[in-house]
Order: sequence, then structure tokens, then C-alpha cells
Amino acid sequence: MTSLNINGRAVAVHAEPDMPLLWVLRCELGLTGTKFGCGVGICGACTVHLDGKASLSCQTLMAGLQTQKITTIEGVQGKEAQALKAAWIDLDVVQCGYCQSAQLMAACALLKQKPNPTDADIDAAMSNIVCRCGTYPRVRAAIHQAAKRRPA
Ligand code: FES
Ligand code: FES
Repeated sequence: MTSLNINGRAVAVHAEPDMPLLWVLRCELGLTGTKFGCGVGICGACTVHLDGKASLSCQTLMAGLQTQKITTIEGVQGKEAQALKAAWIDLDVVQCGYCQSAQLMAACALLKQKPNPTDADIDAAMSNIVCRCGTYPRVRAAIHQAAKRRPA
């Protein structure tokens, strides 16, 4: 059994060291807000934060995670997350919703690193490249809005 820090809580998990974090989150812990897309590190649908950095959970093995803070869409907090969720609703970003957890997690990590990102910053940072609904223009607009309206 291994203890992980997930969403601010110590959580005991049974998974083997070579199990990808995505499967631990979804299948062992029931945190299904993080999505399976490609499973090979291309699509970005599985994005979570490791010590605040946007990371692909399908490419992150259990081994070595004991010292990192893992944050998923279920536990993400703070002024960036609040501002982004408000902008997402305000601009009606979501269509089917499948990719949106990952979009929000990537956007949140970006705003923490770059409080006023340019379009180029957004395009470089957003890891989700397979939004089949094509929400990219609204994702970008919502990130700009969140950057402007985020509390100081
Ligand atoms: S499911 Fe992880 S990058 Fe596609
Ligand atoms: S909102 Fe449907 S895949 Fe992105």
C-alpha cells in the first residue's frame, strides 16, 4: 500500500509502482473527472497537476509520486480556478464536456505561471489537442477573461 497526497488529503492506494496515475485516480479512487483519451501522452485529456504543474496522468507512473502534491479537477482551488470556472460558465465554453476538465487544469497551471498570458502563451500551454467539439476559441477567450477578472 502507498500513501499519496491527492487534493490535499493523504490517500492510501494499492496500485503497483508501474501503474499509471490515471488508472489509480479513475479505477481505484473513483475520481472520474480526469478523462482517458489516447492513453499514450498525445491528447491531454488526462491532465492533472503535480506540485502545481500541468502533467499527463496517463504518462505518470505511481513510482515516485509519494512526495508530490497531486491535484485533480475535483480538488482544484484558488483564485485562478475560481476565475476560470466563472469564465467558463460566463462564455458557455463547454459543449460535450469530455475534454473540459483537462482544459481547466491546463489553464489553471498557466495562469499561476503567467498571470496575463498572450494568445501564443495559451496556445503553447494548453495540452488538450483533441477537443472534438472545437471549443478552442472559447477556451482562449475564457482564459483571457479569467486573467482580467481574477481577484488580486
Ligand atoms: S489520455 Fe493522457 S494524453 Fe491522452
Ligand atoms: S467539449 Fe467536447 S471534446 Fe471538448
